[in-house]
Amino acid sequence: KTIYLKDYQVPDYLVDSTDLHFELEPKATLVKSQLSVRRNHEAGEGLPPLLLDGVDLELISVAVDGSILPPASYQETPEGLILTVEKPEFLLEIYNRINPEDNTSLEGLYLSNDMYCTQCEAEGFRKITFYPDRPDVMSKFTTTIVSSKILPVLLSNGNEIDRGYCEDGRHFVTWEDPFAKPAYLFALVAGNLEHRDDTFTTVSGREVKLRIYTEEKNIGKCDHAMRSLKKAMRWDEEMYGREYDLDIFMVVAVDHFNMGAMENKGLNIFNSACVLASPETATDSAFQRIESIVGHEYFHNWSGNRVTCRDWFQLSLKEGFTVFRDAEFSADLNSRAVKRIEDVSLLRTSQFAEDAGPMAHPIRPESYMEISNFYTLTVYEKGAEVVRMIHTLLGQERFRRGSDLYFERHDGCAVTCEDFIVAMEDANQVDLAQFRRWYSQAGTPVLVVSDDFDQSKGIYTLNIRQTCPPTPDQEEKLPFHIPVKIGLLDGNGHDRILSDEGSTEEILEVRNVEQNFEFNGIKEKPLPSLLRGFSAPVKVRYSYTEKQLIFLMRNDSDTFNRWDASQRLAFMALSNIQQDYRDGKALQVSSELIEAYRNVLKSRILDPALVAEILTLPSEQSIAEMYDSVDAGAIVAAREFLSETLANTLAPELKEKYLELNVVKPYDPNAKDIAGRSLKNICLSYLAVAEKDDALDLLEKQFDMAENMTDSAAALRGLINHGDAIQAEAAIQSFYQHWQGDTQVVELWLGLQSSSSRYGSLENIRTLMEHPAFELKNPNKVRAVIGGFANRNFKQFHKEDGSGYKFIAEQVVALDKLNPQIAARLVIPITRWRKYTGNLSDKMKNALQDVLNSGTLSKDVFEVVNKSLI
Ligand code: ARG
Ligand code: ZN
Repeated sequence: KTIYLKDYQVPDYLVDSTDLHFELEPKATLVKSQLSVRRNHEAGEGLPPLLLDGVDLELISVAVDGSILPPASYQETPEGLILTVEKPEFLLEIYNRINPEDNTSLEGLYLSNDMYCTQCEAEGFRKITFYPDRPDVMSKFTTTIVSSKILPVLLSNGNEIDRGYCEDGRHFVTWEDPFAKPAYLFALVAGNLEHRDDTFTTVSGREVKLRIYTEEKNIGKCDHAMRSLKKAMRWDEEMYGREYDLDIFMVVAVDHFNMGAMENKGLNIFNSACVLASPETATDSAFQRIESIVGHEYFHNWSGNRVTCRDWFQLSLKEGFTVFRDAEFSADLNSRAVKRIEDVSLLRTSQFAEDAGPMAHPIRPESYMEISNFYTLTVYEKGAEVVRMIHTLLGQERFRRGSDLYFERHDGCAVTCEDFIVAMEDANQVDLAQFRRWYSQAGTPVLVVSDDFDQSKGIYTLNIRQTCPPTPDQEEKLPFHIPVKIGLLDGNGHDRILSDEGSTEEILEVRNVEQNFEFNGIKEKPLPSLLRGFSAPVKVRYSYTEKQLIFLMRNDSDTFNRWDASQRLAFMALSNIQQDYRDGKALQVSSELIEAYRNVLKSRILDPALVAEILTLPSEQSIAEMYDSVDAGAIVAAREFLSETLANTLAPELKEKYLELNVVKPYDPNAKDIAGRSLKNICLSYLAVAEKDDALDLLEKQFDMAENMTDSAAALRGLINHGDAIQAEAAIQSFYQHWQGDTQVVELWLGLQSSSSRYGSLENIRTLMEHPAFELKNPNKVRAVIGGFANRNFKQFHKEDGSGYKFIAEQVVALDKLNPQIAARLVIPITRWRKYTGNLSDKMKNALQDVLNSGTLSKDVFEVVNKSLI
């Protein structure tokens, strides 16, 4: 069954207060709920039946205003309850039972390592009790949790208002959340947990208690998250004027979690991998990921909780905006340019692929079968780019005026993307009518740019044409309103002055299918630097020569575009190599390209972080995204050849840089040190590719001596991919021996093997799945092993015989019975079959067909597979 945005209707009934009572038992938890229900007069006249969502629940009884309802006044369906009450206002009491222990979907209430926890977004609350499980029904929640004392910690949203003992020796705690909220923000946690405390004094002087809960063994891994939380709280006050609103803010780490984390009011629940860190056990990227996710969930307290979504089509209202907020938070705290490069790489590699695939959808989808399938890179990351474009068009100050109005106007309400845009318009008297198309049209627009220089008149003209490829259900697209930030470089590599005020950059507002932009008073033909800072989520085509790209890489004042020039260069080289490979010619790389890389590597001026980013060749995945027809074999060969050529010719410089940066100092995840480590480890990985000199000794040495996980994991990766077989095996074993007690490190260890083009053969993947550290019911382990193979091991996954695809199909079918959300994510790599050439395409399609024919599928998997075969 498909649900459409156009069919939205306001709820028939509202729930003013929700009183929940849980008696926890692993296989039979009793849930009592008391709802004060009221007819919603906005919905119309009369008293229609009351619809309550409910899935996998055992109904015990229903009562209205104190009297049990006769079975004739309600009907139970697989989706819930239909009640006939015929009163405009009443107290509804429902008793039901659930089974947390057997709940492997990790939605609703479930057990993770003997800890009870919940995940209700988007539609998980209906697996707890019968309820109008939709975000526009907002209610004040009170929650009492009763349990045996084996579980000393009993948590829910808001403030604790009561606790005590029951006659039978159990204990209870009651929580009250003073803010009305939709059911998807409800949370409950119960377990034997330790906690770390801190406090934060808000700008208005209120003291807030901060508390992070973990299992005892992890209590030493909370410091970084706590620091990040305090930074986030301050940042939101300063940048958005948003203050925290409860007396306590709690964070809980759980090992079994479908996503990264969840912003439940006052009680955020995190995937352990996104909150726990220590220098010995977490890599630099884990430290940064944690900082940004802690920020993200905290920022939701305003963009998501205080102002929430009317319906799930509006998901990007909170997610796009909040991702934009967390990206700016990370950029302010670390290297802005590097953060931007990382985000754009992800967007180009994975979101562009989504936009070009069978599940393409606008950031505000028009329909869905299963909303869980729409927690996508499009809704999140492209959604953030759309908010960023508004920021670019308005400027910081006017954007802030818009966000202030948005929060003020809609506090306590469930609203739409349209409301957000209107607030931006109203606060600034601007017209974003055409801009709204970003919310309704899918696909990645392409800008074809050409230029012309009239020497005699001194006029330089940029001609920009926009197109957008067709996507499912959207053949034709109307032109987008696109901010294109540009600069013009003169022959010395300096930015030309473009206005009387002396600015060297301009934001061109592209609105038409084709448009010219003229620049006057120009004496020599400039070189355009286009889409600076990636000012819009589009592809830009301009026929740069290799020479011009090298020039931009050296001179562009926009750091992002320097990196982007290097990417264009690499793609150009990789394209040529692929062509030679297909033609059976000798493969080659131009000496100019090699010299450009040598210059970057030897530069004393460039930020080491940028050098590291430039030296990192595009992944096979992102190369594949560039083509309508993907030749997987040629991509692997071309990338290997380019990386070997660079490694071999630059070996002396790489080694010099490595030694220069390989200094012992105490670990600190600040931007400068992270940059040093990332450049050092890139050099090491090239040296390993070159397999020259003492590269293997360097790897061994770093592996033995490393005092932080970044260096240790880099060395292990090098040994796995380039050490001799005995060396590699020994490193893998000793690493595991050392770290087997640490879940996060074990996940990393699994991922390094599964994503290794050398080590992650299908056979080894199957062996890993037999390893005691693997657990099919744990999403992190599945993502590490199976996801690593399908998404980060291009060579083995796309093996000629199609064995990789068959394997994924098999795993998807098995996982669908346990956890449909995870299964539906895992199937995605084989849904892009149309893009691949020859045999691979057919084999991928067959694997999909196998999934479809395997029997009854969840809505989640069915939607994805079905859409990809249509
Ligand atoms: N709202 C959460 C976040 O972005 C993610 C929700 C998880 N959703 C899900 N369907 N599992 O921070
Ligand atoms: Zn979010």
